[in-house]
Amino acid sequence: MSGPALSLVEVTAGYGNNPIVRAFSSDLAAGSITTLIGGNGAGKSTLLRAIYGTNRFFSGRILFRGEPVERLPPWRRLRLGIGFVPQGRCNFPAMSVAENLKMGCYTLPAAAHAAAIERVIGLFPILRERWRIEAGNLSGGEQQVLEMAMVLLLEPSLLLLDEPSLGLSPRMQGDVFATVQRIAASGVTVLVVEQNVRGALMISDRALVMEQGRKFMEGPADEVRNDPRIRQAYLGGNIQHTAA
Ligand SMILES: Nc1ncnc2c1ncn2[C@@H]1O[C@H](COP(=O)(O)OP(=O)(O)OP(=O)(O)O)[C@@H](O)[C@H]1O
Ligand SMILES: [Mg+2]
Repeated sequence: MSGPALSLVEVTAGYGNNPIVRAFSSDLAAGSITTLIGGNGAGKSTLLRAIYGTNRFFSGRILFRGEPVERLPPWRRLRLGIGFVPQGRCNFPAMSVAENLKMGCYTLPAAAHAAAIERVIGLFPILRERWRIEAGNLSGGEQQVLEMAMVLLLEPSLLLLDEPSLGLSPRMQGDVFATVQRIAASGVTVLVVEQNVRGALMISDRALVMEQGRKFMEGPADEVRNDPRIRQAYLGGNIQHTAA
């Protein structure tokens, strides 16, 4: 397929009467990993929600594989192949890991469930170890992994990840980054917001920097990583971003 996997054209989106993200444009190539960087409250999560369709869209265009999706409800975007792993904890805390994964297969034909679950357990073996545990009793990091697995059951071609390594041990952060690389290598386009900016840039092809809802900088990940303004604001000894 030619053309970008995702085109954001002058996207303005927010909540109620408040536009937060303003006139944001970018193209994401198929199979690429892009890190979205910005301080607390910059509008990173708001942009991901706009791409998935869970907040108020004001104006602009969102083209997914060339098709406009900005007016479609989230479930239709999901069917088209947009997967979104929001910031935060799992959806079904009182259900076991096994039950969560079965639930996550609900849009797949029954005959495909077992293979889909095997595939995501292959990506995250920790889930097999936690198989019978209630999701609400997993560590925050394990819940994050479960959420990512739930979305990957549906084999999205665009994966939106909001702070996937937040609360994870360094080792599990490494696992998540390695998994993201493997997913992208299989052709999936990834847009990731990360508090571990350094780690995310290491695995990314490109970086987008957002300030106060607007695009501040965009370029190859290594160029952005070496930009003095970015080094000072996001890669200094004292990284400004704090966990909520
Ligand atoms: N559900 C909501 N309703 C109204 N305003 C919201 C809502 N969610 C976020 N906002 C506002 O939108 C702005 C941007 O928030 P957003 O969550 O997109 O920032 P962020 O870059 O993801 O920050 P963080 O790094 O803290 O996650 C903030 O001013 C926030 O108060
Ligand atoms: Mg956020």
